[in-house]
Amino acid sequence: MSTISLCVIARDEEQLLPGLLASVEGVVDEVIVVDTGSCDRTVELARAQGASVVSFEWINDFAAARNEALSHATCEYVLVLDADERLAKGDGAILKEIVAAGDADLVLLALYNSNSLDASQDEILQGSASMGEPILLPRLVRRTENLRWDGAVHETIAVELLDGMQVAACADVRILHFGDVPEIREGKKKDDRNLALLEERCKVEVGNPVMAAHLARDYIRRGRLEDAWDRVEICWSHLEQHRASDGFPPAVVGLATLRAHLLLAQGRNRCALEAVETGQGWGNNHPNLDLMGGAACEMIALETGGAEGVSWLERSAASYVACLKRHGEVFAEELLPGATSWAASTRLGTVRLLQGRCEEALDAFETSMVLKEDHVEARLGCAEALLGCAQPEEALAVVEPCLQENLPDSWVIAAAACDVLGRIDELVLLAGRGRDLAENGFMAVHRRSCLEQLELACCIYGGSPVPGDGPVGLLGAVMSRRPEGANPWAGQAPDPELVTRVALNSILGGHSELLDPLFEDRAEDLLPGVSSILQDALSQLGVNVVDDGEPTYLFIGGAGRSGTTLVRAMLDAHSGVYCGPEVKLVTGICEMHKVWTEAMGDSFEASGVGSAPLDAGVRSFVDAVLREVGGDARCIAEKTPHNLLGMELLGRLFPRARFLHVVRDGRAVAASLVKQQWVHPGTGELVPYCRDHGSAARYWGEMITEVRTQALQVQDRYMEVVYEELVTQPEQVMRQVLAFVGQPWEDAVVHHHASDQRLSPTESSSEAVSRAVNTDAVDRWRRELTTEQVQEIESAAGEILSWLGYTTPVDIQSVG
Ligand code: A3P
Repeated sequence: MSTISLCVIARDEEQLLPGLLASVEGVVDEVIVVDTGSCDRTVELARAQGASVVSFEWINDFAAARNEALSHATCEYVLVLDADERLAKGDGAILKEIVAAGDADLVLLALYNSNSLDASQDEILQGSASMGEPILLPRLVRRTENLRWDGAVHETIAVELLDGMQVAACADVRILHFGDVPEIREGKKKDDRNLALLEERCKVEVGNPVMAAHLARDYIRRGRLEDAWDRVEICWSHLEQHRASDGFPPAVVGLATLRAHLLLAQGRNRCALEAVETGQGWGNNHPNLDLMGGAACEMIALETGGAEGVSWLERSAASYVACLKRHGEVFAEELLPGATSWAASTRLGTVRLLQGRCEEALDAFETSMVLKEDHVEARLGCAEALLGCAQPEEALAVVEPCLQENLPDSWVIAAAACDVLGRIDELVLLAGRGRDLAENGFMAVHRRSCLEQLELACCIYGGSPVPGDGPVGLLGAVMSRRPEGANPWAGQAPDPELVTRVALNSILGGHSELLDPLFEDRAEDLLPGVSSILQDALSQLGVNVVDDGEPTYLFIGGAGRSGTTLVRAMLDAHSGVYCGPEVKLVTGICEMHKVWTEAMGDSFEASGVGSAPLDAGVRSFVDAVLREVGGDARCIAEKTPHNLLGMELLGRLFPRARFLHVVRDGRAVAASLVKQQWVHPGTGELVPYCRDHGSAARYWGEMITEVRTQALQVQDRYMEVVYEELVTQPEQVMRQVLAFVGQPWEDAVVHHHASDQRLSPTESSSEAVSRAVNTDAVDRWRRELTTEQVQEIESAAGEILSWLGYTTPVDIQSVG
């Protein structure tokens, strides 16, 4: 019959040692207690329970104390337990069977960590009073001549002995551990002493991954993250260098897990994945590594997005599924909390959410909540999944209890639910609170972008859309008629639910006018299918959208010589825009309308002619002229410099027309104007603003002031193009112009000279615009004008020049 010696090392353990000895009564054949200097009743109590007590001076070396105990043992097997541990009731019989069979040299037993001194065995074993998952530890070993423990701290059986040992695991023999119960841990104050021993050991055994992981974990617990990282790095690079020559795979589950964890915290997601894969490559197969690998893939997926992101999400989900498959197994390396259960299930749920597989996400989160009732992350996930399953009310009910937690996540989910429910005021408040809390960090990173999307939606519902990231940012770009930037969603069919929600909430917010740009050509280009989605959504409200066939009219103007012809030629190169030679008739009829209403208004009224037929006449005249020249173009643009003097009238008669004001440095304009020989068609005399620099500058200033005044009447249908910006950054400016007129981007506009140009012999800039866009004329005035001429311009329009940022006194003085 084989026998068992229990070997214990103890100091001042009067509180717990009797319990340990009672738990092994009738199981072990002898008890050896090595006392390392107790001042309490440890020795007395041990002896009273039949133990042989040996005194041994504490020399800062756990292995030495263990080896001392071993030297007194006489049985075939040695059971190693600490005073703060107990053998589970009923498991002694199994232990005896193992020993009787005698097959194994070393047996791993399962250690359960209790979270309370008063917990019952059942509570600890079933998990309600335990911390973390059970772990398998080598505690039963055949006593041989050369058996020896090594290591001043975290002592282990000497490594070279392990190689030839027959190892077995027996999760049915369970040890209950009370040493991590806070009151015991704090009472003992051994932590600092053990840390010093561990640091010492790690210095000597640089390449011992298990010790490095212990030390790094201790550092992390104390908030010393940099020290933790240094320790992990030193050991890791040592392993990378020496592994091949050592010949056997290092046990790096703990180290690789910590390395991945620290790398993820630094945002180095791909390096984290590499750490996991290296650990696995070294033969370590453990759920901790799968869990960290899954987290790394999840982060990489969020980073990359698009099709690549989709495959990273797949990999991430597969890792979490691998974790869950090992539920119930007991491992020799401590499991990360919930690594095979609730944590993995929650992470899997999050990935399913990101994949848009909301029902599966809901399942996963519900499983987590069963396994761990108070798991906030799972509850939040559940709410988000419900939202994805079109159950916004239920989502709100689930997320509500979490609002006290001060996590931005819960506010974001509640805001998203209100978005779906069309409760805009609440959405704005909830998203605002989410923003306030965002600096606390998000539990699930993707919710930061959810918040950004909701904020962009709030801008739209408030009537001020802006371009931004993601699908809502793209809608914002189209609805604000501004460039979309490098938005990866551009050109992809939009989510009908999103489009419908944004449209209906815009209407609810009182901004139905924002839907107009969504029916334009640019919208169809950036959001294919958007207009039919909208038509469906609106028809549910009983609204029928009909196209009245009117093209988008764009009137371009500015002071003569400001670059208006160049803008015209560039736009004309676009396949959807007609912008041929100037028609002049629009300015003519607007001037005539002015005379009719201002000078002759009274006499017309006396004859019974009110303003309506005059307006109708001008409208149909302009309409007819523009359709005549523009044919069936979707956007008909008309450039005649003085068009914008009639902007107020045109804006009223054509409520959807848009206006483009080309503005250029007044000094350059004046310098160019005086070189023109423009005569008045009626009198044949040189027009006044071409006579001298002062008159030209005055005219330029008056034009800008007048156009800007009239712009107030057409508000967001008005845009300014600065000539100097146009010629230095043509693409950037033309992207703004095309977005403004609702046309998709075409490269041809910045290569207008290469297209078939419609040039007119009567346009003074025809020759210049036949060339590629260039900056030759930006600074030419500096060479051409004398100091006196610049001063003449300055005194005629200095205020407006500086208003527009065109001049400084130093600037003026340096000229000449
Ligand atoms: P300069 O006379 O100073 O050269 P508008 O067409 O409104 O009358 O404006 C004429 C100005 O537009 C001219 O200014 C001309 O240089 C400029 N322009 C015409 N074509 C251009 C081009 N391809 N690149 C840069 N500027 C151009």
